[in-house]
Amino acid sequence: LLIAAVPDMMPSMLPSRGPALKLSVYNLPWPTDWGLVFGVDRPLVLEIGFGNGEFLNHLYAQYPEHHIIGVEVSNQSLVKGEARLSAHGLGDRVQVVYGPGLTALAHLFLPDSLDHIVVNNPDPWFKTRHEGKRLIQRDTVDWMASRLAPGGRLHLATDVAAYAHMSDEVLSSTAGLVNVLPEGWVHELPDRPSTKYQRRGDRMGHQMAYFVYERSPEPLPYRPVVQEHTMPHATLTTPLTLDQIAEAFERHNYRTASADIAYVQAYLATKTGSLLVETTIAEPTIQQTLALMILARREPNAYMVRVGGIGHARPTDGVHRAVALLVDWVVGLHTEGQVVSLKVRR
Ligand SMILES: C[S@@+](CC[C@H](N)C(=O)[O-])C[C@H]1O[C@@H](n2cnc3c(N)ncnc32)[C@H](O)[C@@H]1O
Repeated sequence: LLIAAVPDMMPSMLPSRGPALKLSVYNLPWPTDWGLVFGVDRPLVLEIGFGNGEFLNHLYAQYPEHHIIGVEVSNQSLVKGEARLSAHGLGDRVQVVYGPGLTALAHLFLPDSLDHIVVNNPDPWFKTRHEGKRLIQRDTVDWMASRLAPGGRLHLATDVAAYAHMSDEVLSSTAGLVNVLPEGWVHELPDRPSTKYQRRGDRMGHQMAYFVYERSPEPLPYRPVVQEHTMPHATLTTPLTLDQIAEAFERHNYRTASADIAYVQAYLATKTGSLLVETTIAEPTIQQTLALMILARREPNAYMVRVGGIGHARPTDGVHRAVALLVDWVVGLHTEGQVVSLKVRR
């Protein structure tokens, strides 16, 4: 029944949950059907940046009817988190996922689908130069509000006073979020277990700041799950050989309306007759590093350009733009260069 309701996501499309392949924002379906991941549907709680994972235990006990998902960018924390889950036998209702919180919010979760979002001690090194990477910032918090179900709650804890002031400004001006506390934040929350970074803050004489916000019942501007497309590919002709194309390669960047694209390095693979171009693509909700492939075809002077098979490249708008711009670059190397076919979203 479940499968019939979501024909786009068959169980075979889910990556295995075994030790060989970790779940990540890059290999899970967008959106993810968590009922299929866990084997049964339940309401959802999300912790972003779970660190050593101890708060996941607390959430497991606090929400006996929910699935708990922990998202982390640190591989070391993921390993620790998984070890903790299996040591405590929590794997039936807790799942850890690799990836940035923003990518998870925008790509994995449907609007109004989370009952609780927890962020404990994000960004303890609060520096202006890290501004763009901060977890609490306008766009990320708007995504949080969009993913919370009406009545769902956002809990934020920090031991950094300047971070509390900055978060207060962002949270109090977020459409759809209402402060549950009488003040911007409080220094103590009843029954609140500590975390590693909270204890670290205590040792340093810092005071904790706790924020509790609730998603209001009014509908918010709809933020659909950011989707991928079919894999882009193109064919072109040029009198240049693959060696000549490789020789002409230099690191270059483009800034488009929706993505920053950098062609970093090119590797000639003579055995397969291809040039692999290491490419980084930064889009508002996802950053990817992948290999784009310029592949010599059997016909003379003909090449195919497509996404290489290494890793889990997701064909986002930015990846389509990156293929199109690489095609333009190769074709532009010679006056007789020509695009033959372009299966790419412009
Ligand atoms: C200072 S530690 C706090 C860990 C834990 N929550 C605690 O209170 O002890 C911050 C954690 O957030 C993770 N983190 C930082 N930015 C993140 C992001 N954008 N998405 C997911 N996790 C992130 C880091 O890897 C780190 O484990």
